[in-house]
Amino acid sequence: MPADLSPIDKAKFLAAKRATDFVEDGMKLGLGTGSTAAWMVRCLAERIREEGLRVVGVPTSSRTAQLAVQLGVPITTLDEAKWLDLTIDGADEFDGNLNLIKGGGAALLQEKIVATASDQMIVIADAAKDVAHLGAFPLPIEVIPFGWQTTKALVEETLVSMDVLNRDVTLRMNGAAPLVTDESNYILDLHLKRIGNPRQLALVLNQIPGVVENGLFIDICDIVVIGHADGRVTVRDINSGEVEEERVEFVPTDNVFAELD
Ligand code: A5P
Repeated sequence: MPADLSPIDKAKFLAAKRATDFVEDGMKLGLGTGSTAAWMVRCLAERIREEGLRVVGVPTSSRTAQLAVQLGVPITTLDEAKWLDLTIDGADEFDGNLNLIKGGGAALLQEKIVATASDQMIVIADAAKDVAHLGAFPLPIEVIPFGWQTTKALVEETLVSMDVLNRDVTLRMNGAAPLVTDESNYILDLHLKRIGNPRQLALVLNQIPGVVENGLFIDICDIVVIGHADGRVTVRDINSGEVEEERVEFVPTDNVFAELD
């Protein structure tokens, strides 16, 4: 492993590497978005090269699609694949029930559609994402640009009756302009500090016209693979209740860390 990898990147890499062990020949895979998911795509590409693993991936963003193509991971569309065996994706936070906040990378809509269309979802994360209560990370929601300020006002009004600690809502920017998602929508970030009832909040937010989807993933994730900077990896399975801790020793090939064009 390159000496200049930061402790966080090392943890993300270890989680991604371990999670690709769950991938079997012939699987249809959901490919997540973000820095941890990017490691997973690299590790998957290595297994394809080294073992001749045959898989096809459905990317959850244009960024992931581009990376997969560059690395030689075969991709298709969800409409083509229809249903997936496994999705591996990062998260911004996960709690003890493996409920998640996602969307820090603005890809929550495709991520939720793809994860929901999968037999199994595995989240890969560094240990800092493990929280007792969701909400310290701002909750992203994807909204239609038409009338977004009215939608924002409705969200703020809705939050008054929700079990949250804080209620600031901000439009996510990309420089001087609003950030535009792959689906040509905007992102509102809800600065809630603590979400008392994530399930209720997820349901209520999606009732607001103009809200396309929210970044709360409730009862979608099955397994979380947590990487630690010291080389440990924890695998937590919410269905079996099993928690395994192991040390991942490996010598990654240069290919995994190769710079892309
Ligand atoms: C993308 O929209 C997100 O849901 C990411 O999965 C999440 O932000 C985690 O990203 P990192 O792996 O970069 O921390």
